[in-house]
Amino acid sequence: MTSNTNSSCLISATVGFSYANPLVGLVDSACFVVKSDECPNQNVTFWLYSNATRDAPVLLNPLDLNPWDFQPPRPLKILLHGYTGYRDFAPNDYIRPALLDNEDVYVISIDYAPLVRAPCYIQAVQNLPVVAKCLAQLINELLSRGIVQHDAIHIIGFSLGGQVAGQTANYLKRKLKRITGLDPAKPLFILGSDQRRLDAGDAEFVDVIHTDTLGRGMLRSMGHVDFYPNFGALQPGCLEELPNDPGSCNHERAPRFYAESIKSKLGFWGRQCSSWLIYLFGLCSTRAPQALMGYHVSSELLGVYFLKTHSKSPYALGKQDEEDNTKYVAKFHLNSRHREIEDDYEPQWGETIPELQSNDVEVNELERQLIYEEQEKLDEPLA
Ligand SMILES: *[C@@H]1O[C@H](CO)[C@@H](O)[C@H](O)[C@H]1NC(C)=O
Ligand SMILES: *[C@@H]1O[C@H](CO)[C@@H](O)[C@H](O)[C@H]1NC(C)=O
Repeated sequence: MTSNTNSSCLISATVGFSYANPLVGLVDSACFVVKSDECPNQNVTFWLYSNATRDAPVLLNPLDLNPWDFQPPRPLKILLHGYTGYRDFAPNDYIRPALLDNEDVYVISIDYAPLVRAPCYIQAVQNLPVVAKCLAQLINELLSRGIVQHDAIHIIGFSLGGQVAGQTANYLKRKLKRITGLDPAKPLFILGSDQRRLDAGDAEFVDVIHTDTLGRGMLRSMGHVDFYPNFGALQPGCLEELPNDPGSCNHERAPRFYAESIKSKLGFWGRQCSSWLIYLFGLCSTRAPQALMGYHVSSELLGVYFLKTHSKSPYALGKQDEEDNTKYVAKFHLNSRHREIEDDYEPQWGETIPELQSNDVEVNELERQLIYEEQEKLDEPLA
């Protein structure tokens, strides 16, 4: 068996889900949904870094870009934080230095902190389209003025930022070369359409890493290639590291692994399997092809990959070496293109959290639903 998931682990992995409890922010007057979707927006700012300016970034004005800021030409990495983040918060504070140390690149850290403050999760989700639209405006300007080449751009989004990356595609004149989704956010995205959620249609190549599939991150495969370190549920070391909120540690492992992958010598090697369901049943062949996860992933790669990691940094274990199990699994020939069960399935705590079906949900209506459900289930933990 390659799978050793047991239910008690799974349950503890989801403790601490209140992070994204949408009920919490509804009554807080500090929570707001942006009224206008005009860009630029004062609450969505773009900070340009290069190796030489890593401590003195340039604040970009999308409508008044200076081509000299992007000379000489280099790859451009765009980082998007998640809920409660800002430009010097995870994953910016460790992915950005790793990128700048590794090679000559430009990095833009987007800061949209005022739109995703705790405890305003519902409002944060509703504010994402304006972030996406403003980012698309910047990219459209960079491209149409010839300041940056299309092939040079790569967006890396963590959690809600992963969903912003997907939504950015809705406003771009041309499909991006690559988007990386680091544990793209789940709460309020389960029933969302592809317009709202990161998917393989959003860039020529979409690679996704899933690390908190029972809590804050999506379980379903969303990209051209999806990696599930440690089966994507409970990350080793997280119960010890954050006993009160292992879910938050699980979630943040995706960007941690990604940052390490930029310069890891061993590398995070995953093994292909047709789906997480097959993996769960221990039916993945240990002779299936292996591939590198993370920054240096091959853009030709397709499918779903699984790997294990260390519980502490450095996390990478290198190539996998496992006993040949083909004689046990040879009988199963499952077609990875038929994944209806999985594509519709997202584990979460009960049914209490309603879903936004589209971006133009009336907040008041949502509020009514939530408060109604809250009264009904007052004695139960949110879930
Ligand atoms: C920006 O955020 C502040 C709160 O920090 C809010 O009052 C203001 O309306 C927001 N402005 C826009 C254009 O979203
Ligand atoms: C970044 O700058 C430092 C100090 O000037 C230099 O030593 C280093 O080689 C540069 N890194 C890259 C990737 O160019």
